[in-house]
Amino acid sequence: MQNFVIREGQITDLTELQKLFVDTITTICTADYGTEQIKAWTSSVKNKQRWQEIMTKQFVMVAQEESKIVGFATLNNGNYLDFLYVHKDHQRQGIAQRLFDTIEAKARQLKQYSLDSDVSKTAKPFFERNGFKILQEQTNIRQGVEIINYKMTKQL
Ligand SMILES: CC(C)(COP(=O)(O)OP(=O)(O)OC[C@H]1O[C@@H](n2cnc3c(N)ncnc32)[C@H](O)[C@@H]1OP(=O)(O)O)[C@@H](O)C(=O)NCCC(=O)NCCS
Repeated sequence: MQNFVIREGQITDLTELQKLFVDTITTICTADYGTEQIKAWTSSVKNKQRWQEIMTKQFVMVAQEESKIVGFATLNNGNYLDFLYVHKDHQRQGIAQRLFDTIEAKARQLKQYSLDSDVSKTAKPFFERNGFKILQEQTNIRQGVEIINYKMTKQL
């Protein structure tokens, strides 16, 4: 078991979270998506307003090992899991599981009936293992590039 703690995210984490987001997609997700798709996906990091809103309006949980952030997850509106990303060098160490458990507990605490997400091909096995069902496969167009993901839901 790795030695990481789970804590609430804060605005000063933003730059490190964005770097983790880009690094993880450009390494881990290349197994499931092509170069143009990866480029279109990571370009969303440039949307300053979106990221400011994530940090100020969403419930953000961060996994930290010593001084390094090794993963993060966010919950929007109490029932939508928006982000779940684990550092490229810390995959399969149970970090997403701990983050997800915190997010699910928060949704339950808020008396939500379900938890929804738009899930990448890469993350689909993790979500299935955590009781999510696929509602539909969907094709998103980002910067003119088609990116397939899955609308998934879990009853709470
Ligand atoms: C999906 C992701 C968040 C999982 O993070 P992780 O910390 O490696 O996951 P965990 O170690 O907590 O996994 C818990 C369990 O989920 C399942 N699981 C996780 N990743 C899996 C994979 N790639 N294939 C199959 N099962 C997987 C396993 O049952 C695992 O338990 P085990 O390692 O004992 O077998 C991580 O791979 C990631 O950052 N992916 C890229 C970013 C991404 O696509 N995010 C989602 C956007 S919607």
